[in-house]
Amino acid sequence: MSEKVKKPVYQPNREFAKDARIKNMCEYNDLHRWAEEDYEGYWDHFAKEKIDWMEPYHTVLDESNMPFARWFEGGKLNVAEQCIDRHLDTRKNKAAIIFEGDRGDSQIITYRELYYNTNKMANLLKNEFGVKKGDRVIIYMPMIPEAAYAMLACARIGAIHSIVFGGFSAEALRDRIADAEAKVVITADGAYRKSKPYMLKPVVDKALDGETPVEKVCVVERNGGDITWVPGRDYSYNELVKDQPSECPAEPMDSEDPLFLLYTSGSTGQPKGVQHNSAGYILWAQMTMEWVFDVKENDTYWCTADIGWITGHTYIVYGPLAMGATTIMFEGVPTYPDAGRPWKMVEEYKINQFYTAPTAIRVLHKLGENEPAKYDLSSLKVLGTVGEPIDPPAWKWYYEEIGNSKCAIVDTYWQTETGGHIVSPLPGATPIKPACATLPLPGIMGEILDPETGKKTEVGEGGYMCVTRPWPSMIRGVWGDPERFKKSYFGDVVKDGKPVYFTGDGANYDEDGYITITGRTDDVINVSGHRMGTAEVEAAVKKHAGVAEVAVVGKPHELKGEGIFAYIVLKGEDTLAEEIEMVKEINQVIKKEIGNIALCDEMVFVPGLPKTRSGKIMRRILRAIAKGEEITQDTSTLEDPGVVEEIQSVVNSCMI
Ligand code: PRX
Repeated sequence: MSEKVKKPVYQPNREFAKDARIKNMCEYNDLHRWAEEDYEGYWDHFAKEKIDWMEPYHTVLDESNMPFARWFEGGKLNVAEQCIDRHLDTRKNKAAIIFEGDRGDSQIITYRELYYNTNKMANLLKNEFGVKKGDRVIIYMPMIPEAAYAMLACARIGAIHSIVFGGFSAEALRDRIADAEAKVVITADGAYRKSKPYMLKPVVDKALDGETPVEKVCVVERNGGDITWVPGRDYSYNELVKDQPSECPAEPMDSEDPLFLLYTSGSTGQPKGVQHNSAGYILWAQMTMEWVFDVKENDTYWCTADIGWITGHTYIVYGPLAMGATTIMFEGVPTYPDAGRPWKMVEEYKINQFYTAPTAIRVLHKLGENEPAKYDLSSLKVLGTVGEPIDPPAWKWYYEEIGNSKCAIVDTYWQTETGGHIVSPLPGATPIKPACATLPLPGIMGEILDPETGKKTEVGEGGYMCVTRPWPSMIRGVWGDPERFKKSYFGDVVKDGKPVYFTGDGANYDEDGYITITGRTDDVINVSGHRMGTAEVEAAVKKHAGVAEVAVVGKPHELKGEGIFAYIVLKGEDTLAEEIEMVKEINQVIKKEIGNIALCDEMVFVPGLPKTRSGKIMRRILRAIAKGEEITQDTSTLEDPGVVEEIQSVVNSCMI
């Protein structure tokens, strides 16, 4: 890389570093070296230090059946106990969760209250709905404290929860329920968005219409909206919970017993149920909370994610509570009533760590450039980003205007599958560069490898972001499909004769060995920090009877990072009137099959798609056309080379 394009380097704030858990790069290097030299000893040390074991483990790591690694075999623990019970001696009156509702209503839940509320919900699941260890429970909830109680209640009795983001449609919910063979759904009547009530229970009703494994539905009251009750199936949480005992013994769980499933998009049309297990997951959730956010005993921490995504699991609920922190749960949207809402909350709650997605930063910047100056943001110590690459202008605004040029920005790189951060700066130690995830966290053997040779890539060369040894919080399997697990993550890169975990992301090293993530190498796109499989969107579009063929690609988007761009071949006549009608209808189908989050930003109707003679769609060409780039690829091998020009002229005419 030439001198001219070198990114500026920002040193950690000295005052902050004095008190940080990892204070400088020497400490980082020592930890990293320790893990390299004695991998099992390293993890053994932290597992003993961080987890209150019911029974000790006998084996730190079993790699005999890779890629199915097993951690802390023989040990027993309960994740809800880790998150609640063990804090009761010293933190019973400390706020565990601070809830801020969409309309500004708020509630503080202490650790003691969290204990009682979780136990009551656990007893309700056990006694009224017959939920047992290993049963799957779907949580389809808004961002209200009961969603956290539901997660922890499942953990307490050993049930496996699977949260489905509240923006998913009935069809998407139905698919996930069926795949997980869930027995119970926990939902709410609805919630509030921008002061207006919206409903969730009717979506559940639709998802359960027809054959379903679900026997009971537990409905939490949030907005009091009118809902239909199916006798014998639907029960009111608020009525039943009152009479439940407030003590519920925590089920002793094996280290490798599943804790939750979370469905995420892959390169096929069918989302996969990423499985995380108990001990390894909670260990890394807590360690990364402590190291990356450096939350102190009296701090207030806010992660703006939704519990429907992995960020909400690890960094709103499990990580903060495992370390005994105070975590904010926010029901609303950051731009309502205006784009100063988050900064107003920072002032009001004296928030010390703030964690959000680059999309939110771009929107808050665009809609409220002058808002931060109206509030006292001096409590902030660490700022985090997650979910997508952050662009340098957004980074600069975040650093200067929100962090007053004194807070570290931790650009945390990770995935649903990694359970917790894998590449990230440490706020007291790592010199940071804008839009750069920097270095693997100590204990994570993250490397950028050449997919052909399996060798570490050189500076600026570009390669595949891999992890070469199993780590405690890694995905344990794809629910019900061990082959898909192997194929999806261990099929592409082989190092020294061994398949290694491949994230699906491209990355490169700079001259300091820092890692910059360049984006997915597969057909997964990242819309507003949410992962979206192009095949999933295509499968939905194809459900419209008038569609003959479709190909979906990502296109850079000013606010969302990437937008969804669809090339559609119609079966019938391709008149303007027909196309206008089809755009509406296809969006309706997407809404029904997946939800609003998958709506296309652009649709173009083309006469055909560029395919090889064996019928494979050349997506690279479609991506280039969507971006308005020159086609540098040889198109002569296409079945119909002329189609490229035809597509280009359609796209160009749409852009005029
Ligand atoms: O492409 C990477 C991107 O988000 C993907 C993971 O998405 P998901 O499983 O939904 O989890 C999102 C929250 C962890 C990754 O494969 N990604 C995540 N963090 C970053 C990122 N891309 C660049 N920089 C990041 N910090």
